[in-house]
Amino acid sequence: IKRVTTHTLQKLKAAGEKISMLTAYDYSFARLFDQAGMEVILVGDSASNVMAGHETTLPITLDQMIYHAASVVRGVKRALVVVDLPFGSYQSNPELALASAVRMMKETGAHALKLEGGVEIVDAVKKIVGAGIPVMGHLGLTPQSIYKFGTYTVRAKQDAEAEKLKTDALALEAAGAFATVLEKIPAALAKEVSQSLSIPTIGIGAGEGCDGQVLVMHDMLGINQDFHPRFVRKYLDLQTQITGAVQTYIKDIKSGAFPSSEESY
Ligand code: KIV
Ligand code: NA
Repeated sequence: IKRVTTHTLQKLKAAGEKISMLTAYDYSFARLFDQAGMEVILVGDSASNVMAGHETTLPITLDQMIYHAASVVRGVKRALVVVDLPFGSYQSNPELALASAVRMMKETGAHALKLEGGVEIVDAVKKIVGAGIPVMGHLGLTPQSIYKFGTYTVRAKQDAEAEKLKTDALALEAAGAFATVLEKIPAALAKEVSQSLSIPTIGIGAGEGCDGQVLVMHDMLGINQDFHPRFVRKYLDLQTQITGAVQTYIKDIKSGAFPSSEESY
């Protein structure tokens, strides 16, 4: 199998072919997504929400992200595995950022890292890229800054914030980032940014003008019942299917229908 690399993504953008990306946090799902042909698997710090049940992404630790990333890497043969550096492990300190990045790469076998922010983290990005580690940016609604925003509504609707986002995107590209996520910003702005960059943009709630798309697996598989912003398309209703299967299993245990003699030794 030919592995997906950061260069593959560059070629896809040049060829005008959209890039597919999906989150995973464990071995079993990562293996399924990789075998299905997913090009990029993101070990998102959304693990803090969907795996650990926290309200935000802030509490998850570098050690916890390393556990998730190492599990995902063991399930993947073809996809590019990108891992989020968690809140507090890289901001405003390039030396700390490099130390976190090196730990993540050494202890997991991941292929690239993702960091949130623009000009504020450019020195950290340069430092990590300088060590030979590919970095993906993340702009727009960056969940690690949720307490700065105070709300999960669409970002960069106003001119000043849109201008900063354009500056940030160019700064990330200049710092050597190989791609950037654009989260929850107007489609027109995302399209403009995508056209102004030579590196690919991966959108989530950022419209069809991005060079690729990403969703959280729990959202697109319908595992989360109480999270349905407009940018999530539900490709499955796993909540209903899993609830039904589990209830049937309970019923079969109670009635004695499970296990049968064929299922016994
Ligand atoms: O943590 C995550 O799942 C992400 C994606 C939503 C881009 O950062
Ligand atoms: Na994230």
